[in-house]
Amino acid sequence: MSILGAIHSFRRPQPQPQPEQNKQFEALLTSLFLMAWFVEARDPYTGGHLWRVSRYSQLLARKAGLTPLEIACAGVGGFLHDLGKVGVPDAILRKPDKLTDEEYAVMKTHPTIGARMLAAHPLSSLVRNAVQLHHERPDGAGYPFGLPGADIPLIARIVGISDAYDAMTSFRPYRAGMSQDKALQILREHSGTQFDPVWVGHMLALGDAGELQHIQNHSDDGIQLQECPMCGPTLVVRRENHSGDTIYCRNCGGGFTLKASGDKHDEKNKSKQLTAIPSGNKGSAIDLEAFADEALISRSIRQSMDLMPIEDLMRSMQ
Ligand SMILES: [Fe+2]
Repeated sequence: MSILGAIHSFRRPQPQPQPEQNKQFEALLTSLFLMAWFVEARDPYTGGHLWRVSRYSQLLARKAGLTPLEIACAGVGGFLHDLGKVGVPDAILRKPDKLTDEEYAVMKTHPTIGARMLAAHPLSSLVRNAVQLHHERPDGAGYPFGLPGADIPLIARIVGISDAYDAMTSFRPYRAGMSQDKALQILREHSGTQFDPVWVGHMLALGDAGELQHIQNHSDDGIQLQECPMCGPTLVVRRENHSGDTIYCRNCGGGFTLKASGDKHDEKNKSKQLTAIPSGNKGSAIDLEAFADEALISRSIRQSMDLMPIEDLMRSMQ
């Protein structure tokens, strides 16, 4: 059975995978997540974007009653979706102004580049649709293929709307992030043309239920983005950070000291209580090196594996 076959047939209780099989699968999944992190390393303004798209996608898949494996694929696909942006030149990827038509044509190559980068990976079929087709639209005006709505796979629709919602509600150098109400209103206005009406309906319901707020402007569960006075809410605090740690704005290089602002005895929530205070220092090249948040990656991997029928997936690769 193919991996896609395993996705569609997964409705029964899962047999316990063997420890060795588990380890092999975890190594493969880790390599996928690390590929996703290349994009955050390239573009400082994506701080937390991949995590948020992954979380919105999982939430939507859960809301729609999809299978555990489909929920996991939506989450991993959310992390991976912009992988191909590593093949887009900095002058275009990081341009603060509107792109010219020629530049936009280059930007539009990223889904195809991403699909090519993934092609030889043993788990590529779990995320290929999210990576290659997240910019397709129900009215057929999307890219790279201009697929008609009915031909756009489920996971690509989910990741596409999650990506658009996060782009609208995130800060950019040239504009503030939109409010939830405004972004949901835009989804409603473009329902059926740019966005799939079914998934617009699910996003609106999640918004009404207050389930988007703990993801919007966050970079991890319970951890809000912090404000750089020069660049806006772009500072990523890691769960493992403590009061007194120094962090840097990946855009302007400004340094910040983290200060406990809440109950310091609340061990469970201590990372939520840190506020970034400007230190007046600039980070050196080493301070500003891109990093992969390994703790967040391994938590995401464990959560995904809990939802996946590992034995079936490994068998389908043999
Ligand atoms: Fe994209």
